[in-house]
Amino acid sequence: MKSLEIKNNIFWVGAIDWNVRDFHGYSTYKGTTYNAYLVKDEKIALFDTVKKSHMQDLVHHIKQLVDPSKIDYLIVNHVEMDHSGALPEMVELIKPEKIFCSRMGLKAINEHFHPKDWPLEAVENGQTISLGSKTVHFLETRMLHWPDSMFSYLQEDKVLISSDAFGQHYATSERFDDEVDFSQLMEQTAKYYANILTLYSPLIRKLLAKVQEMGLEIDMIAPDHGVIWRSHIKDVIQAYADWSQNKGQRKALVIYDTMWQSTEMMAKAITTGINMTGVSVKLINLAVTHRSDVMTDVLNAKAVVLGCATLNNGMLPRMAGFLMYMRGLKPTNKIGAAFGSFGWSGEAVKLMNAAMEEMKFDIVEPGLRFKYVPSHTDLQECVEMGKRIGQAVITQTEE
Ligand code: FEO
Repeated sequence: MKSLEIKNNIFWVGAIDWNVRDFHGYSTYKGTTYNAYLVKDEKIALFDTVKKSHMQDLVHHIKQLVDPSKIDYLIVNHVEMDHSGALPEMVELIKPEKIFCSRMGLKAINEHFHPKDWPLEAVENGQTISLGSKTVHFLETRMLHWPDSMFSYLQEDKVLISSDAFGQHYATSERFDDEVDFSQLMEQTAKYYANILTLYSPLIRKLLAKVQEMGLEIDMIAPDHGVIWRSHIKDVIQAYADWSQNKGQRKALVIYDTMWQSTEMMAKAITTGINMTGVSVKLINLAVTHRSDVMTDVLNAKAVVLGCATLNNGMLPRMAGFLMYMRGLKPTNKIGAAFGSFGWSGEAVKLMNAAMEEMKFDIVEPGLRFKYVPSHTDLQECVEMGKRIGQAVITQTEE
């Protein structure tokens, strides 16, 4: 690939990782990019680096524009290794006059790299630095999604370098939002939000309000992953506003794992019942669906109905793992219900209900269990339960 000027003397110099398929438990079927930006002015600044494995791509892209040793400032918006893994080698190569980061970034850099004599300088929220004709305005975005996270706003060009926010794990040869398929782009943007940012939704609401209050004009949002937003800025900000509200659409998910298909029979009957109320419903078998794709569906669903057979007095491992993952992401404002078949002890339904109670889901059913194989009458009961859940979705999405 080639470096690319995205706006007056602001260049993309990052790396494309076509092959990554797993990001600490998040499936990245479409690969990703590690974006870094070089700004040429009286002072030359590099915003973020890349994953260590992709350092040569970064260096190659920088060298198309400038000798790396001519870079004056390094700006570290986020210390997670996909953006800072190449930092020690880049500091060695560049020998920067200064490395700017947030106060928490300073701590994180020290705790990651234990540097001896790096010219680190912590900036405050709202602080600015001048590169010559361009001003960089730093915005602390603590816990979005690490304590050290910050945005850099290039004031004169109205470019927001947004770190992980508004990113997508989406490897493409195109660099802009209007050059790729919009529905695929939004799907990857939603997946990123669902799997990285859901638990920080209250902070996102505050951040969006703050940006509005500051009257920040934005011509371009340049995230650290995926394509750069220039034509669909309003769409992505609106999507973040909607997702952070956790409202949930008129949609239900029936998520299950099954042992000998009895729980699957129940799942199908419950799906039928929900569908009969006119509510959109999706049946998801955890054996064939990655937990991070399930979370993308959870993002805008109103009801999460969980089904699992009992194994060794507990849940099947796939459901237990999914619940552990979902609990960490803390989706809120959901309707919940549980069901499952069992042989003799039957603890799974109780355990799923307990997990949903912990997430403060509104549990609208006590839970439905059948021994071994459900009869036709039992399945009718499942259909009825599905109808009641569908009705609850309708009522709660009307509010
Ligand atoms: Fe893309 Fe939080 O690192």
